[in-house]
Amino acid sequence: MPVLEVQNVAKSYRLPGQKAIPVLEDVSLSVGLGEHVAIVGRSGAGKTTLLNILGGLDRPTSGDVLVEGVSLFKGSFAAYRRNRIRAAKIGFVFQSFHLMPELDIVENVLLPAMTGAVKLPAPRSRAKELLAKVGLGDRLMHLPGELSGGEQQRVALARALMCNPRIVFADEPTGNLDKLTGAEIMKLLFEVSDTPFALVMVTHSQEAAALCDRVLTLDHGRLSRKEKSS
Ligand SMILES: Nc1ncnc2c1ncn2[C@@H]1O[C@H](COP(=O)(O)OP(=O)(O)OP(=O)(O)O)[C@@H](O)[C@H]1O
Ligand SMILES: [Mg+2]
Repeated sequence: MPVLEVQNVAKSYRLPGQKAIPVLEDVSLSVGLGEHVAIVGRSGAGKTTLLNILGGLDRPTSGDVLVEGVSLFKGSFAAYRRNRIRAAKIGFVFQSFHLMPELDIVENVLLPAMTGAVKLPAPRSRAKELLAKVGLGDRLMHLPGELSGGEQQRVALARALMCNPRIVFADEPTGNLDKLTGAEIMKLLFEVSDTPFALVMVTHSQEAAALCDRVLTLDHGRLSRKEKSS
């Protein structure tokens, strides 16, 4: 069974008094555990919209998303199910890190474990261990604002992996970083987790896309396979 199954997702935005603007027309996709997929496409193509729907942060106009065979949007208690699945099985990494500025980095990494959706035996030690793995073992007391962009993204990576997610969604994770720092983040993304996960990553970086098993282009609201140039 694929860990992520996207079935004919469509999304249009309707602003009050205006015609609906279609962003996603018909998106279907199946991703297995351990598989890494990159999504590329021009600005405004709908990549962030798609990722937000796949992660249960936004709703499709039609279609559905299944995580390990369980629907995020259909049936009774879908909103409840969606929250549980998001907390227990999904990790997110964003272009602009999205750390909580008033919490130190250990507390930031601990956050996903605070929902109670996943029981970890020793969450604080795990958070510290993950931070050590991403090279921040000597910065545990720091606030995000005291770290560089690349360091903040490492914290975000540790946070995304805290609960051993089945799926990681990354929206331009190297978009705010220089080439070298971006490459370091990609390396950590593939190496730090002790359990396999499906990765769906939106990126404008050819280098980052080339590290994935599949590269798909989002254009006119549909995904198509992009052949690797090398
Ligand atoms: N909440 C919203 N209400 C109305 N329109 C929206 C909303 N969110 C996004 N859009 C529109 O949907 C389209 C797709 O936006 P989206 O952010 O998904 O693009 P993107 O591919 O991620 O672009 P970028 O590469 O610049 O990040 C854009 O035309 C945008 O203006
Ligand atoms: Mg975007």
